[in-house]
Amino acid sequence: MRKKIIAGNWKMNIKPSETAALVKGIAEATKDFTNVDIVCCTPAIDIPAAVAACAGTAVQPGAENAHWEASGAYTGEISTGMLVDAGVKYVIIGHSERRQYFAETDETVNKRATAVIKAGLTAIVCVGETLAERDAGKVEEVIVRQMKEGLKGLSAADAANLVIAYEPVWAIGTGRTATPEQAQEVHALIRKTLGELVGVDAAEAVRIQYGGSMKPGNAAELLAQKDIDGGLIGGAALKADSFAGIIAAAAAAK
Ligand code: 13P
Repeated sequence: MRKKIIAGNWKMNIKPSETAALVKGIAEATKDFTNVDIVCCTPAIDIPAAVAACAGTAVQPGAENAHWEASGAYTGEISTGMLVDAGVKYVIIGHSERRQYFAETDETVNKRATAVIKAGLTAIVCVGETLAERDAGKVEEVIVRQMKEGLKGLSAADAANLVIAYEPVWAIGTGRTATPEQAQEVHALIRKTLGELVGVDAAEAVRIQYGGSMKPGNAAELLAQKDIDGGLIGGAALKADSFAGIIAAAAAAK
């Protein structure tokens, strides 16, 4: 049985001064749901406040990116060592917005994810096709390429510090969610591909999240699918009650 994992991706929302109240609201609203891993991935500048607010609660702090070098002349970047030092546990890598707007490639995803895992943090590696790729019948080709290139060189032991998020780009922030069947089909493909990369046993233990307009009203049917082990949540993670509603659905899922 894989423990469900619901992570918020705050993106470029929520100021440092607003962070503690949101984390504490989430912790309070979800304190009965002990069978779900709960994560808030925040902007870097919110991390100290998030780490402080998470202390003594079941909510775990996360970041939205990390660089692969240990230190040096990389203006604007943050190393995994800095994140460890700050108390972060999870790091989102390769979000489609990074790929689309910040020239992230499968190669940089691979470097970042490897650095995160080697630092003892858990990488949440995002994959997903655009609408044009789906319409052109290229879902399998795109997902398999992102997986094989992005996770190149990782071992079965590394997979213990890996979460995959399937985020169809056309479902992010659009209100248009993949159907449970569409999502399950890709999640099964992700697990099969992972099995080829790190072995079937390690792949069976990796949690695969769905992301893209997940909310309290559609979470249960998505989380009921065999290979959907959680969610990576944007908009609905910015309010304690909607985020808690998704976590409640995960807690009730079989
Ligand atoms: P929304 O939940 O706002 O669609 O965002 C999903 C996402 O991109 C999470 O990483």
